[in-house]
Amino acid sequence: MATDLHYTAPGLSDADAQRVVELLQGRLHACNDLHLTLKHVHWNVVGPHFIAVHEMIDPQVEAVRGFADDLAERIATLGGSPKGTPGSIVGEREWDDYSIGRASTQEHLAALDVVYTGVITSYRANLKELDDLDLVTQDMFIAQTEQLELFHWFVRAHLEDKGGRLATDGATSEKGAAASV
Ligand SMILES: [Fe+2]
Repeated sequence: MATDLHYTAPGLSDADAQRVVELLQGRLHACNDLHLTLKHVHWNVVGPHFIAVHEMIDPQVEAVRGFADDLAERIATLGGSPKGTPGSIVGEREWDDYSIGRASTQEHLAALDVVYTGVITSYRANLKELDDLDLVTQDMFIAQTEQLELFHWFVRAHLEDKGGRLATDGATSEKGAAASV
């Protein structure tokens, strides 16, 4: 997946740097996909809670775009070449395109619960692997995971009842989650 590195950060082995760049590229695809998906939701939510959800989403778009920039520049810092074209995202991502068009705020939030679950699960898996590879990149991933988990809570707070139970409990697909609210 990664191209040959002609230089990397001092003290990092070439093999470790290659793997770190692969992990960074995977998160770069995830963040580029996520900020576009969040804008799509911003544009497609309808219903009585439109303005609250429409406006809640934009700061998430901005933050995730910032994550993508940091990930891409870390790839370059390690001697790699970040891929940010739409074709590279679609060709290399391990998930399907967001599946919901115009829909109610609750349906989109339910689908976003599934989206955030997928993104955060992958970040946490990467954090474990980075323990032995590169603590500097791990630090970046930790900070991004913390923010993503906060945004995930913003989404989930709309889906829980007074007892704290999520309407989307057990849902594994966006459409399945949207159907549960
Ligand atoms: Fe807008």
